[in-house]
Amino acid sequence: MATPEAFTTATASRSASPSAWWRSAAIYQIYPRSFADGDGDGIGDLAGIRARLPYLRRLGVDAVWISPWYPSPMADGGYDIADYRDIDPVFGTLAEAEALVSEAHDAGIRVIVDIVPNHCSDQHPWFRAALEAGPGSPERARFWFRPGRGEHGELPPNNWQSVFGGAGWRRVTEADGAPGEWYLHRFAPEQPDFNWENPEVHAEFESILRFWLDRGVDGFRIDVADNLVKDPALPDHESGPTPWADQDGVHEIYRAWHKVLDAYDHDPVFVGEVWTSDPERFARYLRPDELHTAFNFPFLQSPWDATALRTVIDSTLAEHAPVGATATWVLSNHDTTRHVTRYGRADTSYALDGRRVHGVTADLGLGRRRAAAAALLTMALPGCVYVYQGDELGLDEVEDIAPELRQDPTFFQTGGEDLGRDGCRVPLPWGDEAPDARSWLPRPAAWDALSVREQSADPDSMLGFYRRALALRSARTALREGEFAWLSAPAGVLSFARTAAGSSVRCLVNLSGTPLVLPDHTEVLIASGPAENGTLPPDTAVWLR
Ligand code: NOJ
Repeated sequence: MATPEAFTTATASRSASPSAWWRSAAIYQIYPRSFADGDGDGIGDLAGIRARLPYLRRLGVDAVWISPWYPSPMADGGYDIADYRDIDPVFGTLAEAEALVSEAHDAGIRVIVDIVPNHCSDQHPWFRAALEAGPGSPERARFWFRPGRGEHGELPPNNWQSVFGGAGWRRVTEADGAPGEWYLHRFAPEQPDFNWENPEVHAEFESILRFWLDRGVDGFRIDVADNLVKDPALPDHESGPTPWADQDGVHEIYRAWHKVLDAYDHDPVFVGEVWTSDPERFARYLRPDELHTAFNFPFLQSPWDATALRTVIDSTLAEHAPVGATATWVLSNHDTTRHVTRYGRADTSYALDGRRVHGVTADLGLGRRRAAAAALLTMALPGCVYVYQGDELGLDEVEDIAPELRQDPTFFQTGGEDLGRDGCRVPLPWGDEAPDARSWLPRPAAWDALSVREQSADPDSMLGFYRRALALRSARTALREGEFAWLSAPAGVLSFARTAAGSSVRCLVNLSGTPLVLPDHTEVLIASGPAENGTLPPDTAVWLR
């Protein structure tokens, strides 16, 4: 692969160090509404997160990424932000957020917060001011306001669609009561897109980064990181490169942001949500003076198949190598169908932009076996590993939420055709909730057996397994920093070694339909299922020494 341009001229920054913490971190994603409820109102909050820091420490993660906790009307689960420098009262206060960061640090856990620079809430003061100020005003120039097409401006300015379904534009009513301009919203209509052609937007976000860095946060997860810059001509899109994504100008933003982080000496990090499927263009975001890491969506989308997984692992490592970047390994997040359910279906592949359709059956027992094996695979690959809250409990997707309880705009904007993302956002079962406690999305009764309380008592549970695997990963230099090499194996089996300072760990994942006779070894460090008698059943993984 060609080395992306500008790599050679990039200034090496302090955080490019090969031993930086984030190069091998285990990062736990907290979706705050659904993690832990501290005040008993049915909605997760900061008090809940603070109370569960010992749980996270015991789980053995190095950092948490907290999905948006800012004041928000929740038109898109918090990704519609009304104030980037405060905490939503449902979650707590800014003082509690500061206390959380400091207590997490005391527990040895770093804190990454979410930043949403592509769009804000329609309740954000800038957008309210833009509506009031009217056409041609500097307030409107912070967003993409345009007159409509058609004789009376009754048609949207172009044919861009919203990611959630329907037109990507909404028409406003002007001060005189007449229908007026349209504004662009790539996501829900309540999420107007910022115009990054405007220097005020740049200055505002650099100031927001500093605001949180000054409060000790250890980095930022950047929402739809490749969407910020649009082709300013706003052309119709029929085919080919999308004029709203992956524009070359976006890299200037991240070069400037990287400098903001470099002024802090606690080694803060960026992780970008970058959707670009072209490996060379993806790697551009990871040049040494831009983002440190980005989510590995091709891996998440891969079917449970040895050839497909090996191909995506190889291409991941190959695309990161020329820019010296660290790979990430992600199985699920708050936008995707939980992988226990995906891996239990006949078709185990997943399309991020596909629809979550009704009535696809899943064998959850099979899904859980595969999920445990996948956990060992991701934890043994070089780079950092993400755990979405509830992965460690083996939670499945909740697919039977009543329509009146659903909250995700995807469900409503597709007329219920796409089930949306509520099913992966159901609050975690802790097992110590009050008997009459209700959560904002109801937990299925089957989760009682999967609660933290139930699983903590059982060392062979998924939770016990995750704790052991994460502890081994952090104790073994080979797994964190070792060289990676594929080893020969029968068809349908993934086999590789991680080696550091003469010490090796071998990971085998049996995706074939038959038991695998294990190669010579001195010790089974951990297995995701029974690995006695020297054989490994199908859909099982093992780490050998
Ligand atoms: C990606 C986030 O992960 C998702 O939850 C959100 O709806 C969109 N970006 C828009 O902010």
